[in-house]
Amino acid sequence: MDLDFNGRVVAITGAATGFGRATAQAFAARGARVFATDIDAAGLAETAAGSTIATHVMDLTDPGAVAAWAKQIEAEAGACQVLVNNAGGVLGRKFHPIEEASLEDWHAIFAVNLDAAFLTIRAFAPAMKAARTGRIINISSGAGLRASRTGIQAYASAKHAAVGLTRQMAQELGPFGINVNSVAPGLFAVSPGTRESWANYGAEGQKRVIEGLALRRMGEAEDIAKAVLFFASPLSDFVTGQVLPVNGGSF
Ligand SMILES: NC(=O)c1ccc[n+]([C@@H]2O[C@H](COP(=O)([O-])OP(=O)(O)OC[C@H]3O[C@@H](n4cnc5c(N)ncnc54)[C@H](O)[C@@H]3O)[C@@H](O)[C@H]2O)c1
Repeated sequence: MDLDFNGRVVAITGAATGFGRATAQAFAARGARVFATDIDAAGLAETAAGSTIATHVMDLTDPGAVAAWAKQIEAEAGACQVLVNNAGGVLGRKFHPIEEASLEDWHAIFAVNLDAAFLTIRAFAPAMKAARTGRIINISSGAGLRASRTGIQAYASAKHAAVGLTRQMAQELGPFGINVNSVAPGLFAVSPGTRESWANYGAEGQKRVIEGLALRRMGEAEDIAKAVLFFASPLSDFVTGQVLPVNGGSF
């Protein structure tokens, strides 16, 4: 079975690589009008190459820029119907014991993994409410449900908060016909940063991780895109405030 998103207006953050790229391309391949953003202009251009995906380079930590992006999409295409908050990650930060962890790193990680979703939802919700329909999908993480393999305190905390934001927004926006859900990926090697940390596991470490997965394989970015398509489609009409772990069976 395949899904048709013909003409649906979809906004996706963090679309220059990994899950965001795969998700933008999956929607575009199914007829959606995709608006993709990232701070990485070159990666974003690669995502859009040869497709109808509209790109917009911006820093999601700039509230004014986020509001302007939402207005621009609405002026061009009407109310956004699907918002995917995917930007995030550890931003190249490494683990430090708590007594050495910097407040600056803490804020930087929260800004992209949590505040950005707050800013986009705040910017896009009014038009969705007026249209009385919408789907919001937040990419959290296994680190939003338990401790992070990275050990990075801010990352686990921000992703837990992204799950909280998902539940709270589902409660608030449900009466307006807006479903809010989250996909929680396990460990994937799909972007430059995550490929590097996967390489650091070494052959033995990688084997241990894969043997710990029920499906005995690493996931592809498309595995996350499929879960996002589900939450954006009529298949999940009566599902809201939920978190779907997509991790190959990591318990
Ligand atoms: N790959 C994994 O193993 C994994 C696991 C669980 C959750 N996640 C989450 O999935 C999402 C996507 O991760 P990924 O591994 O595909 O890619 P990633 O983590 O490398 O990057 C996501 C994108 O966010 C963009 N971004 C970062 N800061 C930004 C800013 N200030 N403004 C605009 N864009 C910015 C980056 O340029 C990048 O293209 C992230 O939220 C990440 O935390 C990833």
